[in-house]
This record gives sequence, C-alpha cells and structure tokens, in this order.
Amino acid sequence: MPVKWEQLYAQRLKGMSTSAIREILKVAQSSDIIPFAGGWPEAALFPIEQITMICEEVLNDYPRQALQYGLTDGEPLLRDALATEMRARGIPAGPQNIVIVSGSQQALDLLPRILVDEDDVILVENPTFLGAIQSFNAYGPRYVSVPLDEQGASADAMERLLREERVKLMYLIPTFHNPTGITMSRARRERIVALASEAGVPIIEDDPYGRLRYRGDDLPTLAQLDAARNGGDPERATVLYSGTFSKTLAPGLRIAWLVCPERIADQLVMAKQGVDLHSNSLSQMIAYSFLKHDWLDDQVERIRDTYGQRCDAMCQAIDDYFPPEARYQRPDGGLFLWVTLPEGIDTAEMLKDAAARKVAFVPGAPFFVGGGGHNTFRMTFASVPAPVIRQGIAILGEVIRDHLRDAGASSAD
Ligand SMILES: Cc1ncc(COP(=O)(O)O)c(C=O)c1O
Repeated sequence: MPVKWEQLYAQRLKGMSTSAIREILKVAQSSDIIPFAGGWPEAALFPIEQITMICEEVLNDYPRQALQYGLTDGEPLLRDALATEMRARGIPAGPQNIVIVSGSQQALDLLPRILVDEDDVILVENPTFLGAIQSFNAYGPRYVSVPLDEQGASADAMERLLREERVKLMYLIPTFHNPTGITMSRARRERIVALASEAGVPIIEDDPYGRLRYRGDDLPTLAQLDAARNGGDPERATVLYSGTFSKTLAPGLRIAWLVCPERIADQLVMAKQGVDLHSNSLSQMIAYSFLKHDWLDDQVERIRDTYGQRCDAMCQAIDDYFPPEARYQRPDGGLFLWVTLPEGIDTAEMLKDAAARKVAFVPGAPFFVGGGGHNTFRMTFASVPAPVIRQGIAILGEVIRDHLRDAGASSAD
C-alpha cells in the first residue's frame, strides 16, 4: 500500500506555510526581472579574494579544526573573537555568553524551542520579519503585536500589552527593520528596554542590518542600553542580542551568533545538539580568520558605500516617478524600503502587473500578524545597480498609477 503522507503529517505542520517571500523569489529569479523583491545582498560585494586566501590559510593552519566535528556552542576562537567584538560595541560578553548558530534564522528557532510552550504569548512588531513568524509558528504560540510609527515600535502599546497579557518573549528588529526599514529612536529604545526589564520579559534583539548605516549617527543597541541598566553583567541581561555575518560577509557561510546569559547558552546548546550538532566548522574558521585579519570594518565600509548610493538612487527615483499617494519613509540604513498606498489598493494584485512588466517587489500583507497591510509593499535596493533602479521605479510608478486609477483612488495621471 502506498504511504498516505497527508494522514501522517504532524499537527505542527498546520502552523507552517512556505514563505510567501520564497514563492515570490521564484518569480524574481528569472534573469530578466528587476529584483526589488528578495533580501539578498549584492553578490558582487562578497569578499571573494579575501575568502579564497583565507580558505587556503585555514586549511593549511587549522585543517583538522576546520574539517572535524566541532563544539555545539561554536569554535572557541570565533566565540572569543566575537565576545571581544561585542564588548567593543558596548555589549558585555565573555565567550561563555556567545553561541554560534547556523544563520540567525537558527537562533529564531532555538530560542522559542527552549522558551515557548503552546499558547504562550510572543510580542512582535506589526509588520515583522516573516522568517521569525515561520520559525515561531512551529511552537504554537499566540501573538500580540505593537504597531510601528516613524520612531519604531510603539512603547505605549507595549506597556499596555505587558500589563494585560502574560507575554513570555518579545521579538524586535529595532535597527533598519525588516520589512519597513524604520529605525527605533533612542528615546523609544530606552523606554522599551526599561519596560521589558521591569516586567522581566526577555527581548530578542534581531540585528542583521545594524552595521549598514548610510546616514545619521549610530544609536545604542537595546543590548547596550540593557547593559547600562544591569551594571554590565551579561548574566542579568534582559536582551538577547542576535548578530549575523550574512549581510556583512556572505549569507552562504550560514554563520551567526547569539549573545545571552550563560545558563541560556547551556539550554540552547542542548537544543542545538538535537538539530545539527554544531554549525559548519570551515565557515566558522573563515569568519574567525576574517576577524583576525581585521578586515571586517573595511568590508562593511565598502558595502555601505554601494548600498548607500543605491538607497539614495531608489529614494530619488521614487520622488521623481511615484505618485504622491505612495508614501514611504527614507531608510537610514539596511536593505529595505517600505511603501504604503491608499487603502483599497491590493499590492498582491499589483505585483502581477509589475511582474508582467518585469519588476518584482514583495506585497506587504504576509508580514502582518493578524491580517491587514494589503496596501503596502517592500522593496530592496541592495542588489540592483542605480540606473536599473531608476528604470524599475519608473515602471512601478506607472503600475501604481494604473491601480490608483482603477480603484478611483486618484486623479493622478
Ligand atoms: C530580520 C532578519 N532576521 C534574520 C534573518 C536571517 O538571517 P541569517 O542569514 O543570519 O539566517 C534575516 C534575513 O534576511 C532578517 O532580515
């Protein structure tokens, strides 16, 4: 008898769906499409020469370490180097507070694995990173959400929810947020860290984009502000800081790290053992060598230059080609820009017309927990050269005008 797979699926599969973004990436991957959709870094900016050199060096100097099974919490040399890097950025940590993970996406799976039971409440921003929701869903949580304004997540809404709900965990992307590109103001950061630590509710601070700032001054991370409140003791941290090499070096390495109290690190190690034993040893040694050579700052400088120019090009093109009904906030960094159209416009429908005219973006609705956002969409400028950005935005401007006209939402022509 053939296996009846549908009857065998675990309950947890009901909470899962393939990412709408992945589906859209399939369209965007066709080579003649202008790809404003995926969040992929520009491959031309990968430090290929340096990584080639490092690979040879690593295989000469540490061949066994690089190819052997490793420790679950990560290669000690890398954990040490990252602890130093974190301290230099105001986040107190020793190597015992660093867990290396296979992409920060894995931290978003391991943390709820050890902290969240079915029906526990997770507080998220609305909209939020779809990959986080996908991971969290496997553990059957209930979501409550706070809206974002131009200063980031609403602290008032958070204060109310912390009072009314038994929130177990918060997940925030305060800097160059995915999908909106918004950066939380300093005042908001201080208030939110104070609220969380007074309520004793941990925050996952997901920070893949923090180093990609194109204008303005750096703001303290939530983890830094938390350290200022708890006397710089990593064991008393409320904020669990998640960093990654995906956007600074290369996502294919799949190397990221989490900064957390040692007892949480111990639990994560237990959970990770059951998942993949440890993260890729060779990739960890590559990342370590990159830090050892002190090449990361130059690499970040280089990519910031290119992304900053592309970000400017996209904002200028939007100002030139989009109708005034399309509202957006200019991002100070990161990879994304978020557009809001008048209510009644369905950007999923709009995508069909845009894709027919060879431009892709991501409709906003899937990023919202609890529905809504049909009139929004996300674009990235990262992997598109400036002249092509102008071309794509000009086409999109026409598609938007068509949809506004059809919806009777505009007299714009
Ligand atoms: C907010 C956010 N968190 C996590 C990730 C996953 O990154 P990684 O490649 O480190 O798994 C991404 C990737 O785009 C992201 O945007």
